[in-house]
Amino acid sequence: MADRHPTRVLISREQLDTRVAEMARQIRADYPGNLHIVAVLKGAFMFMSDLVRNMEGSVSMDFMAVSSYAKGTTSSGEVRLVKDLDTALDGRDVLIVEDIVDTGLTLTYLQEILRARNPRTLRTACLLSKPSRRKVDVGVEYVGFTIEDHFVVGYGLDYAEQFRNLPYIGVIES
Ligand code: IMP
Repeated sequence: MADRHPTRVLISREQLDTRVAEMARQIRADYPGNLHIVAVLKGAFMFMSDLVRNMEGSVSMDFMAVSSYAKGTTSSGEVRLVKDLDTALDGRDVLIVEDIVDTGLTLTYLQEILRARNPRTLRTACLLSKPSRRKVDVGVEYVGFTIEDHFVVGYGLDYAEQFRNLPYIGVIES
């Protein structure tokens, strides 16, 4: 298991750059004022950093960490809050930045706990979505790429904590 590695590039560095810049422009057009970004660690760190580098104006950031997968490529279905936010969300325009929506369980949990903190608006941006794997219907306003049912790594996403550093999205064959 541990010696599995990506065998092909699914989304290149250039495709990521172009699409992330496009998403940033769209989000900024929808939210021209203060935007508060909540990035979900660890998977969203690279996406978030490229996204905000493409945004001008007032953007603040906070981080939370959840654990949804133990190790390997199958979901446990359990979501645990590992690190909470440092600041309150009341009255703010909040954008959740997530790496990938798979079953949708993690995002549903996150949206529920963040909505309970009374933000003015709450939207979600995900780099990747695997709709064929969805177990719960969850709303995502901004999706970078819709992909087939592959286990992917790179650009922040891991397999057993490896490959987050790859500058592209690669596929791990099962
Ligand atoms: P969900 O709760 O099943 O939607 O899973 C969401 C989380 O599982 C993501 O935030 C990722 O951390 C992880 N995940 C789901 N699919 C993949 C994948 O293909 N590669 C790496 N991590 C994944």
